[in-house]
Amino acid sequence: MRVQSDRSSTRPRVENHAHIAINGNLALAENIASAGTIASAGTSVLTPHLPAPIVHLAGERVKDPVFDQAASKEQGRFDVQNVSVAYNGVPAVSDVNCAIASHQVTSLIGPSGCGKSTLLRSFNRMNDMLGNVTVTGSIKLDGHDINSPATNVVALRTRVGMVFQQPSVFPLSIYDNVAYGPRLRGRVSASDLDALVEDNLRKAAIWDEVKDILHKSALGLSGGQQQRLCIARALAISPEVLLMDEPCSALDPISTSQIEQTIQQLKEQMTIIIVTHNMQQAQRVSDTTMFMLRESMSEPAHLVEMGPTKEIFDNPHDQRTRDYISGRFG
Ligand SMILES: Nc1ncnc2c1ncn2[C@@H]1O[C@H](COP(=O)(O)OP(=O)(O)OP(=O)(O)O)[C@@H](O)[C@H]1O
Ligand SMILES: [Mg+2]
Repeated sequence: MRVQSDRSSTRPRVENHAHIAINGNLALAENIASAGTIASAGTSVLTPHLPAPIVHLAGERVKDPVFDQAASKEQGRFDVQNVSVAYNGVPAVSDVNCAIASHQVTSLIGPSGCGKSTLLRSFNRMNDMLGNVTVTGSIKLDGHDINSPATNVVALRTRVGMVFQQPSVFPLSIYDNVAYGPRLRGRVSASDLDALVEDNLRKAAIWDEVKDILHKSALGLSGGQQQRLCIARALAISPEVLLMDEPCSALDPISTSQIEQTIQQLKEQMTIIIVTHNMQQAQRVSDTTMFMLRESMSEPAHLVEMGPTKEIFDNPHDQRTRDYISGRFG
């Protein structure tokens, strides 16, 4: 049964929980956000430097009366109903209905421009950052409407972390990039922080390369290393859901394989949604696959088919899915 979208309450609103200087660069703003320290673009000042950890958030975890009481073992499930996204009033994604199971890996596949990143950004309201985006329909995380006025966006983004298509490290040391989110969430002893930084750099398959240069600038790392550092930084806030937008597109096969192993291990702890153009990767890492398609540039994209990954790849119901996964287009 389809449920009518609540169009009146789902327009993203601009929050200003913390005044964060943003480098005129959405990716940087997004990564600050993914460290759990978000401000929306509306009132942010554009300056060329990263702010120190946000003072008024330091020392305590951001609380949200709705989301904090939702925490449970089965947390991290999304229910998406009639979700559409438009840029400047022009629909880009239309009428998506799906459920994202908790503690599973869901891959989002489809040709370039079919709205994968757009849909992914809706899951932690990162589209709000763009200012020109309208999201309608209902997205519930563990039963709570993430677009409701009652939602604390800071708390939401602490629960739903993100790794972006383009890596954008903070202009800080390698160590401080990973420690940034945990420091904001509360007091951590120096030894605990050391252990946490090491653990997450190991999960992101970069520890061996950086263990002797932890206090050097992250800006000196290669693109692939920066991407793995961004993965470590996202993991360090222990999100319940991790959104990954083509996380391995800049990685070599060995790093890719290590990240895929990490993804498999992480689903014990969190729900993962991964956008990938790599069909083998989708089959290797995901339990469920969603195939999106934009039939023509004059139409918005939609969800064509979603199901168990094996079924989608071995026996898709829709001819368009079959054509895409067999490389006939896209
Ligand atoms: N900030 C924006 N402003 C206006 N239109 C946008 C913006 N971001 C994306 N779009 C449009 O929305 C559509 C979907 O883009 P999106 O980036 O979500 O696709 P995608 O599936 O992630 O593509 P790719 O695989 O190339 O990353 C595209 O037509 C794109 O031009
Ligand atoms: Mg994309």
